[in-house]
Amino acid sequence: MPVLVVVGAQWGDEGKGKVTDLLGEQAEMVVRYQGGNNAGHTVENEYGKFALHLVPSGIFNPRVVAVIGNGVVIDPTALRAEIDELESRGISTANLKVSGKAHLIMPYHIMLDHVQEARLGKGKIGTTGRGIGPAYADKAARQGLRMEDVVDPAGFRELVMSTMKAKAEVMSRTYDQDVSSLEAECERYIEAAESLRAHVDDTALMLWKALREDKAVLLEGAQGTMLDLDHGTYPYVTSSNPVAGYASVGAGIGPMELNEVWGVTKAYTTRVGEGPFPTELTEETGEKIRKVGNEFGTTTGRPRRCGWLDLVALRYAVRVNGMTGLCVTKLDVLNDMETIKVCNAYRYRGELLEELPPARSVLAQVEPVYEEVPGWKSDISGVTSIQDLPQEAIDYLNFIIANVRVPISLISVGPKREQHIKVPYPNVGRQGARGQQEGQGHGGQTHDHGH
Ligand code: GDP
Ligand code: IMO
Ligand code: MG
Repeated sequence: MPVLVVVGAQWGDEGKGKVTDLLGEQAEMVVRYQGGNNAGHTVENEYGKFALHLVPSGIFNPRVVAVIGNGVVIDPTALRAEIDELESRGISTANLKVSGKAHLIMPYHIMLDHVQEARLGKGKIGTTGRGIGPAYADKAARQGLRMEDVVDPAGFRELVMSTMKAKAEVMSRTYDQDVSSLEAECERYIEAAESLRAHVDDTALMLWKALREDKAVLLEGAQGTMLDLDHGTYPYVTSSNPVAGYASVGAGIGPMELNEVWGVTKAYTTRVGEGPFPTELTEETGEKIRKVGNEFGTTTGRPRRCGWLDLVALRYAVRVNGMTGLCVTKLDVLNDMETIKVCNAYRYRGELLEELPPARSVLAQVEPVYEEVPGWKSDISGVTSIQDLPQEAIDYLNFIIANVRVPISLISVGPKREQHIKVPYPNVGRQGARGQQEGQGHGGQTHDHGH
């Protein structure tokens, strides 16, 4: 593993935390490259069960330097709380480094996030309410505050308060908001941000040095491809770019440094918040998946919308990320299914679409076209090698490979770190993926499974 990007291939919550924690056992640096505490990455390992929001999921390996990159937006009170929680549970954060270029989420961003959602009414995005959109908007508008600003305490307070006053004026005049609490809230944020000063570092330089020494680096994405600001289901997206291309920007290294891109997908699909979701199941089966898969948000506790696997969207994710490997998670959640449906095309006004339609008005109206495959009707949550998977499960995985044309690198069959199957695909890597995409590997197999 030289430099590997772990990217969400769907609408988030694919199990990136689990995969990163697992791969983190072999890494020396793990970098979060975008998003903020809208993310909730669950890790279950020998130390317990954790919900990480900003701290990279590689923190559990004491040899790992965990980096919050410049592409992340940081709510200092949330990061403070997360560090304190980890420390109180015996996990050292001494190796946690935060880029000085990472932007800060401030109380007025959170207020604005709520105000904007309320104003949208029925047309709301369904954000996590963590101030993500307004913080990235300020970054782009060159009005943001950065972690590096905390090095000068007097200057920092002045900067926060003057920015807050300008924002408060807009909020009170334009949106008729009560802004009286903002000053005290900002004091709390200043204190939290200053308490993080020791973690601030030139993380891009650290990363550069690690790469020169051939250290294994993991770049951990948050959210997922379909929530990407450019490539997702706009405007029902987040305000950053989860796609792999942004990993180099958000970590501060060149694009040629990235060697592998592993997309994480559930064996079915979920989405939290509003927006199109062609394979959504609003009946009993959706309810069953939600229950068995425990599909409730890690960050907000909201029930996740559930549906069958959407290979049209997954093919798209393979393409826009340049994926070299696929991690299929939560395969065990389908244990009880008599049959499993997979969407391999959409129908739009009588026409069959095999690729994700670029126009948002079209995506909102497509109908999924399903193929139905037999389920395995047995418990696979303890399986650790391909040979021990039921044939139906192997057939399901091969169906996925054949239709998205990327090899499967990892299969997850439960939330715990050890509940996985590593797939020793002979061609993992650029060559292998390209070969597959050019059709040489069409109909590819999950290799020597012995059946
Ligand atoms: P992330 O945001 O991509 O890191 O994913 P989340 O942590 O938000 O959501 C994934 C959920 O599924 C968490 O509760 C994980 O503990 C759980 N999980 C991950 N992999 C598996 C798996 O293979 N099987 C089951 N049953 N649960 C899993
Ligand atoms: P992880 O990293 C799932 C969704 C929200 C909403 C939209 C915009 O755990 O996979 P935002 O607060 O970002 O402005 O909300 O994006 N969303 C996520 N959905 N997993 C996440 O993160 C998400 N982060 C944001 O539900 O639809
Ligand atoms: Mg999550």
